[in-house]
Amino acid sequence: MNNPKLNEQVDARRTFAIISHPDAGKTTITEQLLLFGGAIRQAGTVKGKKTGNFAKSDWMEIEKQRGISVTSSVMQFDYEGKRVNILDTPGHEDFSEDTYRTLMAVDSAVMVIDSAKGIEAQTKKLFQVVKKRGIPIFTFINKLDRDGREPLDLLEELEELLDIESYPMNWPIGMGKGLEGLYDIHNKRVELYRPENYDGERFIPLNEDGQIPADHKLSEDGIYQQVLEEVELLKEAGDAFDVEKIAAGNQTPVFFGSALTNFGVQTMLETFLQFAPKPHAHKTESGEAVSPYEEEFSGFVFKIQANMNPAHRDRIAFVRICSGTFERGMDVVLERTNKKMKLSNVTQFMADTRENVQEAVAGDIIGVYDTGNYQIGDTIYEGKLKVAYEELPSFTPELFMKVASKNVMKQKSFHKGIYQLVQEGAIQLYKTYLTDEYIIGAVGQLQFEVFQYRMLNEYNSEVVMTPMGSKIARWIKPEDLDERMSSSRNILAKDRFDQPLFLFENQFAMRWFADKYPDVELKTLL
Ligand code: G4P
Repeated sequence: MNNPKLNEQVDARRTFAIISHPDAGKTTITEQLLLFGGAIRQAGTVKGKKTGNFAKSDWMEIEKQRGISVTSSVMQFDYEGKRVNILDTPGHEDFSEDTYRTLMAVDSAVMVIDSAKGIEAQTKKLFQVVKKRGIPIFTFINKLDRDGREPLDLLEELEELLDIESYPMNWPIGMGKGLEGLYDIHNKRVELYRPENYDGERFIPLNEDGQIPADHKLSEDGIYQQVLEEVELLKEAGDAFDVEKIAAGNQTPVFFGSALTNFGVQTMLETFLQFAPKPHAHKTESGEAVSPYEEEFSGFVFKIQANMNPAHRDRIAFVRICSGTFERGMDVVLERTNKKMKLSNVTQFMADTRENVQEAVAGDIIGVYDTGNYQIGDTIYEGKLKVAYEELPSFTPELFMKVASKNVMKQKSFHKGIYQLVQEGAIQLYKTYLTDEYIIGAVGQLQFEVFQYRMLNEYNSEVVMTPMGSKIARWIKPEDLDERMSSSRNILAKDRFDQPLFLFENQFAMRWFADKYPDVELKTLL
């Protein structure tokens, strides 16, 4: 705890994820941030072109085309004395439990919203996972260069749908073709969209009354007057800026901007870095927390990425460092097996890979090459630290498939594969309650495809999968169970710990059930 160098390094870390619905602009913003940090030289380098040319099931091709799925999972750069780690939370067909688990490894999140669309389905799901963790959430309302919804309307939706207080850090002056700039409430200035149309200055400081000095052209503008009225209204009726509420994830600072035209992104980044938390203490199974300033190294595995190359079976285990310093070649203990492991083949995610090896400390992510030793949720630690970090939560799956071995003679490898992949957290396993048929559950379609591919390539087991479509999974207490409650619209199943659950056809079926059995409590995982 009294290692000043380590303390300083930890204090400089800012580790966060950007969450959004596909197409809201996450990739575009990420690229802008990397440009500011000098980590890339040109926009358009984070991801290849959109995957629209590929069939959905062709995930191998998608991976090949990108060829960067591992390296872009964590992006690191330095900015104004801070070392920033951005963790990718894939959308589209990549969406999986890994996406949720990644949110367990960050200290804060930035939520990107399309100003024309407002809160969309995936944003809401990811938001809820972040909110449960009680970590700070910052909001960026994107695409101001296009006509979108009224800002007040968007804030209202945010508060209603997500049940979180909002505080506008800045306010748009016009939008679409009429976009003039941002009234920056937090920094007490106006940020002009096209400074070249004025006298070239991007920022105009506000005077004491919160107004643009009278000699400026914009001060006579009709939209500007309207903005002043709206800001006044927000001051009177809105919530006050509250650092404690932000830290607890109960208030979200809201920024407006346009990622594509690089407007407002830097302002967001700078203010974000001012308020985003440094690495926090991580809770262990015993309820105590380990300080990030603890000198001995520790961390947990939050994601395992299978190697896409069929010639190799190795995988990469993503480890969030919770304390101490990682050094290449160091010995650690894998808590679950009590086995000693050498961390020699490790990928660090650096802004500039040509640099000499840099140390990684609490807050950073390392990628450990793995030949099958690690599982999701595993703790590794150095020396006498002897910690076990809290189990990662399981997420309620929404998609289900019946699954069986194609070749009945190969049941053994089928079972081995399925149990290992379930343990690893690649997929969730259920059985029909009475007939013990296998059902696998996932939060995203890609998980099924990865499962099928890995069963064949790693366990030599060809599987037959029968889609059951989307279902609503709800657990019940074993004592509430009556097999007669089951029907074709609510399939009775058990999870791998033999706990009973129903897979409801739809919301309607679930409501019907709740009305019929009002005393039976229906629970989700998270
Ligand atoms: P995602 O990662 O959240 O899925 O979104 P991404 O950044 O890929 O952006 C989705 C689309 O929205 C892209 O257009 C992108 O250029 C556009 N976009 C992002 N930010 C802004 C913005 O501030 N203003 C406007 N007008 N558009 C924005 P696309 O045509 O679908 O893709 P591309 O062909 O340009 O790559």
